[in-house]
Amino acid sequence: MAASGRVLEGELAGKVLAELYGLSDAALAAKIEDELGEFPPERKQCASVAIEALKAAFTNYRNARACEFVGDSPLICSCFGVSEDDLLAAIRETGASEPKGLGRVTRAGSGCGACRMLIEELIEHVKGQA
Ligand code: FES
Repeated sequence: MAASGRVLEGELAGKVLAELYGLSDAALAAKIEDELGEFPPERKQCASVAIEALKAAFTNYRNARACEFVGDSPLICSCFGVSEDDLLAAIRETGASEPKGLGRVTRAGSGCGACRMLIEELIEHVKGQA
């Protein structure tokens, strides 16, 4: 488990949030296995526990950012402090059809990736109004 944590630390150290573009469990697990080899069945949970700890740390970070946020519309991307109104405006201005396109404009969704589902819903909402 400690070795898995060190692999994740090495993967993320020195990167800024915008370089993460989501933290896929599968990609993180693959990175751990690439570095450490395949885990025996009785140790498979070690990588999962390390990944869950990392995700819990990002949840704590997002919660802290959300508590600091002051805005008139709901906060959608807590990594970068992007509100629903900001995203709706960006979607309408850019015609973005996927979160990645908005990430280039607002940075929303380009950190931990937890907000991407909400961004997709906003994109669909705007498409439905067209
Ligand atoms: S909440 Fe982390 S990238 Fe949006």
